[in-house]
Formats: sequence, C-alpha cells, structure tokens
Amino acid sequence: MSSTARRSTTADARIADEKVLVLDFGSQYAQLIARRVREQNVYCEIVRHDIAAERIREIGPRGIILSGGPSSVYAGGAPGCDAEIFRLGIPVLGICYGMQLVCQALGGTVRNWPAREYGRAVCRITDENELFTGVSGETDVWMSHGDQVDAVSDDFVTLAETHTCHHAAVKHRKLPIYGLQFHPEVTHTPQGRVVLGNFVRNVCGCAGLWKLGDFAEQTIRDIRERVGDDRVICGLSGGVDSSVVAALLYKAIGSQLSCILVDNGLLRKAEEEAVIREFSRHFQTDLHVVKAEDRFLAALAGVTDPQEKRRRIGHEFIACFAAEAKRIEGARFLAQGTLYPDVIESGAAPDGPADTIKLHHNVGGLPAELGFELIEPLRDLFKDEVRRLGLELGLPEDIVWRHPFPGPGLAVRLLGEVTKQRLETLREADAIVVEEIRAAGLYRATAQAFAVLLPVQSVGVMGDARTYDDAIVIRCVDSDDFMTADWSHLPHEVLGRMSTRIINEVKGVNRVAYDVSSKPPATIEWE
Ligand code: XMP
Repeated sequence: MSSTARRSTTADARIADEKVLVLDFGSQYAQLIARRVREQNVYCEIVRHDIAAERIREIGPRGIILSGGPSSVYAGGAPGCDAEIFRLGIPVLGICYGMQLVCQALGGTVRNWPAREYGRAVCRITDENELFTGVSGETDVWMSHGDQVDAVSDDFVTLAETHTCHHAAVKHRKLPIYGLQFHPEVTHTPQGRVVLGNFVRNVCGCAGLWKLGDFAEQTIRDIRERVGDDRVICGLSGGVDSSVVAALLYKAIGSQLSCILVDNGLLRKAEEEAVIREFSRHFQTDLHVVKAEDRFLAALAGVTDPQEKRRRIGHEFIACFAAEAKRIEGARFLAQGTLYPDVIESGAAPDGPADTIKLHHNVGGLPAELGFELIEPLRDLFKDEVRRLGLELGLPEDIVWRHPFPGPGLAVRLLGEVTKQRLETLREADAIVVEEIRAAGLYRATAQAFAVLLPVQSVGVMGDARTYDDAIVIRCVDSDDFMTADWSHLPHEVLGRMSTRIINEVKGVNRVAYDVSSKPPATIEWE
C-alpha cells in the first residue's frame, strides 16, 4: 500500500473532527495561513482551488479559507471555485483574492482601483462582529492588492474600512461567509492572529483539538500496527527531520529500527562523531555508518558545475544507501522525513494543489526502485511543528534547533572544484562562524549561519610577506520558512571576531566578506 493511501486510512479521527481547508488560489501565503490555523490547535490542509463542493462535504471541514492569489477575478482564465461551496453551510473566510471571489460570486463587483494598496494601512472597524472580538477599533493591517471590491450586494454588510478601501472586511447577512481584503496571516498585521483565531473558534466553532502530543501517540500506534515484526531502515543525517523520524520509529518499534548514516566527506566539522554520539545516547539499536568520503570525492573530481555536483552526490548517496540497506536482513520499510511543504510542492497531496513548482531540491531523497514501502510520519507537518514534536519526544534542544544543512553538504558551499584540502579550509572557517554565532547567543535567532569558500584568491599582506590566498564569505540569514530570507543584521563586533579568527586560524585564507543579499533575489545557499 502506498504511503498516501495509508495516510488517509490512518485513524486520526480526532484530528479530522476539526479540520479547516485552505483553497489555494496561487498565494505565496497559503502555507502561512495553514500554519496560523494550526497555531490555534486546529488541523488545517491546503487543497486545490477548484475542489468539488461534494468532495468538501465528504471531508467535512469546520471551515474553509479562500487564499489570496495573483490573478484578477474578472480576468479570463482566473482561478475560481465551485460556487456550491457557499451553500454547504460551512463557514467561509475569503482573504484578498478570496474575498473578491466570494463577493463577485454572490452579486458584488470587483474592479481595478486607481489607489492600489501595498503595505501597511490603518483599518477602522465600523461594525462590531465576532470576527473582531479583542481587536482594537483601529488596527494596522497588511494590504497587497490592485483590485478591490467596488460594491457588495445587499446580502453583505461591511465591517471595516481603510483610507482607500471601503470594504476592508465584509460579512454575509444570513450565511456564515466573511471576507478580508487585508492579510491576517502575515506578521505585519499585528492582530491578524486574533482575527484568524476568532474565525476558527467563534465562527467555525472549533475547540482546538489538534495537539502534537496526540499526533505523536497516534503516529506511534499506526507505525507499530503497520510494521508488525518487520524491520525499518531510516537514513540519518543529524538534521532535525531525520532525528524526529528516528525518534518516532524508535518509540514505536525499538530495536526493529536500523539507521544508516552515509559519511560522504561533505559534512561539517566533527558532525559525524556528534551524530553517532547523540544516536547512542538516545537509541539502543543498530547504526550503520557508511564511510564513503573517497567515493564521493572521486565522483566529484574536476566537477565545478553546481547542478552536476548535486546530481553526482545524489547518485552516489543512493548507491551507498542501497548497498548498505541490502545488507540489513528482513528490511521491508524505509522511513523518510518528508514534510508537508514537500508534499504540497511536489503535487503529491491528496486534493492538494497540483500545479505549484517544486521549490526544494532534496538530494537526500531515495527512489522508489529501492523496493521498500515508505513510511513518512512527518508528511502532515510543517517544520516548526516537527521541532515542537522533537521536543515532545525528548530530543535535546541542540538537535531540535539545529540549523538546516543541505543534502549535498559542503560541496555546494564550496564554489569550484571539491577537493579534500578545500573542504578542510571551509570546514575550519565554518566551525568558527557557528562558534561565534553561538557565543554571541544568536544561534536560535538566526535561521542559518555558515561559511562559503570562493574560487578566487586575492592579495593580502601577513607579517611582512605578500599573500595571495582564498576568500571566505560569511552567510547568515533570518527566515521563517526558508522560502524568503533576510540577511542577518549581525553586530559588527561579532562579524569582526569571525573575520579575525578565520584569517588567523584558517590556513590559506586572507580575506573575509559578509553576504548582504536577501532571498529573493539571491538564494540562501550559493550553489
Ligand atoms: P536555497 O539555497 O534554495 O535554500 O535558498 C533553501 C533551503 O533549502 C536548503 N537546501 C537544501 N536542502 N537538499 C536539502 O536537503 C538540498 O539539495 C538543498 N539545497 C538547499 C538550504 O540550506 C535552505 O535551508
């Protein structure tokens, strides 16, 4: 049975009891809406915008949220929804494009507005309503629209306005249907969480039953039942996702779990030892460490193209993993740390949006041809939920809050050819960056902090001698979801200490630069 089929048969009855669906109209914020709803302890899934009303009735959600989107509702080919959903009696909240769609479908008009609103606006509540319980009469909201509702039908009442938007919030007089022109899901709308909480609790009547502790118990029971007496293999990387998967499996099936760590020679300083140490501290089951540095370096010799590096590393990883897995007797299942964003973005979610682009290039993925049945216990979770789950399962903070590290490792942080010596230079510089970030108490505040080795040399002077040595770039970013990121505004003293230490302690480096690019347009990694 496929893991997807399995997922829908899991008896997560309590979770399903209180579900909210987000219909995705191509918004960059659809996932954020879902996360905000889950923060209210209400399970939330993203589905395609044209899902049939009949299918929604089968799923039986407590509420439906229509996301924003880049289109104009009046344009030809604009994404729509099954208008029957407004007659299901299930509460609906339209956000931005979603609101315009609702208003247009129910007799209002939408048009392009000369005074476009992008950014912060002051919203004045003109009609008290349970959607705004606990929200100030005037509150900052985040707007991002060129179109807006021009006129609502008599069935609607306007609840709020801004300077340039007469219908900033609306409600249907008889049906449980609401619209917000602003974005309650973004942090720039400071009271947006309260508004979404009001929708979920006051309007949809959810009690908040989605608890990670229950999820963990349920998942552990499901795994135990599915695996029976068989053996499960789990790839370990030292990152939070694979550690949480291993912890769930270990709780479920104990020593029927076998883990494989592929040491590809592209790990950070002392990383392999740290993973092994943590593993033996938490799990009493077998760990297979595949020493494959030579093999990876041979495959990478002479390669400078980033995509080619990724391809070769992916290929070697699969070969190493498969060879080791074959040696594990009785293994029937393979556990992977696939997360909900991966599931949505790959178009694999049941009822999920199919046409989004796969954003994350997960080289750690293993192909179906390996012949194992997949167990993906995190496929319903966002990253922040995985971290909280890790804490529930008793994993140490150090693992739970570890910065993400890409599957292809240091190879994509080392521009140009990957050699043992260049890896050593990068490893030492990288360790200093992380040590100094930790020493400054900034590790948790930053999303990722690392060093990059450039394929250029520059002139310097050390003592009385001229040098012509390597340049290191420090990359440090703040990010919630890794889809967008801002460069961290690190104190100059911290940057200064990193620079001095790298130049003094890392042989062959005479220059350090700080990367001040945000994502987009840059990416977090350099390759
Ligand atoms: P970019 O560089 O695209 O990275 O802004 C976004 C996030 O993804 C991580 N990343 C990867 N993770 N395999 C992974 O498992 C990969 O091939 C890979 N490439 C990038 C990156 O570290 C950041 O957190």
